[in-house]
Amino acid sequence: MGRKLLVASANQGKIREIKNYLENLNNINLEIIGLDEFPGLPEVEEDGDSFRANALKKARARAEQTGLLTLADDSGLSVDYLGGEPGIYSARYAGEGATDEENNQKLLEKLKDVPEEKRKASFICVMALVDPDSGEEIVVEGRCDGIIQLSPKGENGFGYDPIFYLPEFRKTMAEIPLELKNQISHRAAALQKMKNEVIRRYSR
Ligand code: IMP
Repeated sequence: MGRKLLVASANQGKIREIKNYLENLNNINLEIIGLDEFPGLPEVEEDGDSFRANALKKARARAEQTGLLTLADDSGLSVDYLGGEPGIYSARYAGEGATDEENNQKLLEKLKDVPEEKRKASFICVMALVDPDSGEEIVVEGRCDGIIQLSPKGENGFGYDPIFYLPEFRKTMAEIPLELKNQISHRAAALQKMKNEVIRRYSR
């Protein structure tokens, strides 16, 4: 049996993606489990002022509650012209409970008269791993650069994907297949860095 690593999320897609990176590493035997194995834990309020603060807060809280090595992430969209907005407010940019469409429309409205060369944006993902036994904390950041389109296009993905244009592929994030998104995304970049850090620190 390997050491358990708790992913501080109940999102099965996220847990599966993390398994692909962190399970079956040479010399490190980790068993990835999700928050669904701990029903009834109280919510952790994401009230930090940065992706980093939120990811660390979630990982620390769940590590303390469960005693397990814990990985948490926080992610969102950062638009250069808007000084990093929507940032940590990505999920609720157009208000509490806003739909993806409403958030996208609000962003497009804010960028209404902004020309293409000023519409640069990045998806950012910060991941924090907290080890309650040693007190050690690892924090990494992954990003994926693009340009905010004038209107939504594509049916795949979620969130801001339909308005996030990838010049390299001449398509939006919602037009490329999920397998490709999973190779180039901010989450993939963060996971690759986290994998390298885990190998460096936990290899026997
Ligand atoms: P979370 O931290 O993964 O829950 O992401 C917070 C919010 O950021 C989401 O509700 C989306 O609005 C946005 N976001 C994060 N990752 C993505 C992505 O891969 N595509 C589109 N939007 C994303």
